[in-house]
Amino acid sequence: MRAFVVKQYKGPVQQADVPEPVVGEHDVLVQVRAAGLNMLDEKIRAGEFRRILPYKLPLILGNDVAGTVLGVGAKVRGFRLGDEVYARPGKDRIGTFAERIAVAEADLALKPASVSLEEAASLPLVALTAWQALVERGNLQPGQRVLIHAGSGGVGTVAIQLAKYLGATVATTVSAGNADFVRELGADFVIDYRSQDFEQLVEGYDLVLDSLGGKNLEKSLRVLRPGGKAIGIAGPPDAAFGREVGANPVLRLAMAALSSRIRRQARRLGVTYEFLFMRASGDQLRQITALVDSGVLRPVVGRVFDFDQTVQAVQSLHKAGIRGKAVISLP
Ligand SMILES: NC(=O)c1ccc[n+]([C@@H]2O[C@H](COP(=O)([O-])OP(=O)(O)OC[C@H]3O[C@@H](n4cnc5c(N)ncnc54)[C@H](OP(=O)(O)O)[C@@H]3O)[C@@H](O)[C@H]2O)c1
Repeated sequence: MRAFVVKQYKGPVQQADVPEPVVGEHDVLVQVRAAGLNMLDEKIRAGEFRRILPYKLPLILGNDVAGTVLGVGAKVRGFRLGDEVYARPGKDRIGTFAERIAVAEADLALKPASVSLEEAASLPLVALTAWQALVERGNLQPGQRVLIHAGSGGVGTVAIQLAKYLGATVATTVSAGNADFVRELGADFVIDYRSQDFEQLVEGYDLVLDSLGGKNLEKSLRVLRPGGKAIGIAGPPDAAFGREVGANPVLRLAMAALSSRIRRQARRLGVTYEFLFMRASGDQLRQITALVDSGVLRPVVGRVFDFDQTVQAVQSLHKAGIRGKAVISLP
């Protein structure tokens, strides 16, 4: 089958003829109809995750899929041939930039009936990230205040809508041209990160979702109330993440060291910092499906590429200007 692969880290994305997926007894074989793009694809290509996620090369890229069930393993109970499904496959089993992929049943859900396959493919990774940050880790409650950075991006567009559904007041950072767009998504307070300093404008917040790291994360700690929490998805990683991914003790120590400065700063301010690396979850996706079909969450697809344009699509991840998500569409 046709797929887009990396043969060596930092090398180009290339089209290749690859073997058909192996379908285990708990797996569902999916005909890929659309595949969402994520900065993670580019980071994996560039080798940024090679120590944490030691993939075997050549590797089929792609972390989001929507498509049709073509076959099921002997022990699969929840899906039937022809079902329209979507998933962020487990991190060790990625490869959605291909004609077909085998996905563990536990990572899959029926796609929301009210949206297209392209829209569905835009959701899993970013919606699960928003869910795990705001619901699971952040325990965001009605009346609380949350600052969501990069509100016009893939994670931001979903996180704003989810935070509003949870009853929170939402501040977000975007460039000026996206201010009205994020207000329409529900943001209460919009900050233009190019001309304004968010640290001077918000204070006493309960939660920050940071997708930029560095100085942005440091400043984010200072807008929290005592006891507040910053959740970083762009790093630095912490030791808890090292345990989650089964890193060896040396790597875990290295991760703890990478985040020691920001954790120290947090401690001094009486707040906490946690790194989140989202994980696949069919159960959480089913809750997301329900929110989409009830009109709470609207997928935002800023651009659709043809499968043949996958190389260009991955390159586009470096270019600004796409609202929400870019998606690859298969015939
Ligand atoms: N750890 C995890 O599990 C996880 C999960 C998902 C994503 N991530 C990471 O999180 C980051 C964001 O992901 P994404 O998919 O949301 O990215 P994206 O869709 O590429 O969005 C990037 C957005 O960043 C905004 N931006 C750029 N500089 C900014 C600044 N200084 N302040 C505020 N906003 C700024 C841009 O907004 P304007 O267009 O308005 O300028 C753009 O929309 C990536 O690094 C990704 O790899 C991590």
